[in-house]
Amino acid sequence: MSEVKKIAVISGDGIGPEVVAEAEKVLKRTEELFGYSFETEHALFGGIAIDQLGTPLPQNTLDICKKADAVLLGAVGGPKWDNNPSDLRPETGLLGIRKELGLFSNLRPAVVFDCLKDASTLKPEVLEGTDLMVVRELTGGIYFGEKFRRQSPNGEEAVDTCSYNVMEVERIVRQAFEIAQKRRKKLASVDKANVLETSRLWREVVNRVAADYPDVELEHVLVDNCAMQLLRRPSSFDVIVTENMFGDILSDEAAMLTGSIGMLSSASMGEGSYGLFEPVHGSAPDIAGQGIANPIATILSLALMFRLTFNYADAADSIEAAVSEVLNAGHRTSDIAVDKSKAISTSQMGDLILAAMKK
Ligand code: NAI
Ligand code: MG
Repeated sequence: MSEVKKIAVISGDGIGPEVVAEAEKVLKRTEELFGYSFETEHALFGGIAIDQLGTPLPQNTLDICKKADAVLLGAVGGPKWDNNPSDLRPETGLLGIRKELGLFSNLRPAVVFDCLKDASTLKPEVLEGTDLMVVRELTGGIYFGEKFRRQSPNGEEAVDTCSYNVMEVERIVRQAFEIAQKRRKKLASVDKANVLETSRLWREVVNRVAADYPDVELEHVLVDNCAMQLLRRPSSFDVIVTENMFGDILSDEAAMLTGSIGMLSSASMGEGSYGLFEPVHGSAPDIAGQGIANPIATILSLALMFRLTFNYADAADSIEAAVSEVLNAGHRTSDIAVDKSKAISTSQMGDLILAAMKK
């Protein structure tokens, strides 16, 4: 019997509880198939926490997350809380939890499933075999730099400052190299070193750190070129690492290669293997409570947890293969179905994935 791993589970609002319930079924099946053991503890967060406890991020929830090895999150938010003051908004809780848990990178895989190639706006032959991961620095750069306004001879002037120090660059670059080692061992570091000083420092750090990962093939790509190459040759990328603002833009671009928001998983990582895993999508209030949401993004987020936090590659592979198998057999939730009348429910999709998992 392996060591018990602790997972904090936050269902949240809207479709959050519906998709998280399916991921929890997959978690149980993983225990049965592979002999791993998990202890889950549920915590309130977001709109439901505002309603029940008067704050989006209760201290007890933070405590549960901090003593866990990883966090699984559904989604938060909804129209009910949209007009609340900022300290009573679910989104404020999201920023707070990332900061409190020291999560400095955001990881987004973009995988094109062959049978869903026509869901994308790009040509199927361009997308063939695309399986990449964008690693975005999350707590530095221009989004967090000093901002102010001043008078200039030509009218009011606004200033945003961008700064990065060696520690901030090195910790995320090391993380990206380590992720690349667990994948196809290719890393593209994206910067704008032809004009930006922060990018020149970024590149120096990448080149120094690279010496510790001789098995990973490294390329430096300028951000404007990367934006083009993502559309031209997406399948040639494995791991892409970049600073905060470039990552914000490129991760959204990469997400659109796949065509469906209901399929996209993500992780936010801190030091070591600790991470928060969640679908990219929100709480989808328009379809909440109907049992039709696609649970695959959340199930793939759990697979990402197994891969990155627990190093259970066998379980992660099993889940990912099961998802492919179910999709290849033609099963679709309504968001990815061409013929909506044949769409299956959230729990039917979860059950099919469970049944397809193999050791
Ligand atoms: P959304 O991602 O919730 O929904 C966008 C569209 O995609 C909707 O039509 C929805 O039905 C569809 N969709 C999303 N996930 C789906 C799934 N799993 N299966 C099938 N269809 C799916 O984004 P939206 O509408 O902008 O935001 C709704 C709420 O979610 C807002 O309150 C927003 O603040 C919050 N939100 C929360 C996030 C989080 O918890 N990390 C992230 C993004 C938004
Ligand atoms: Mg964005």
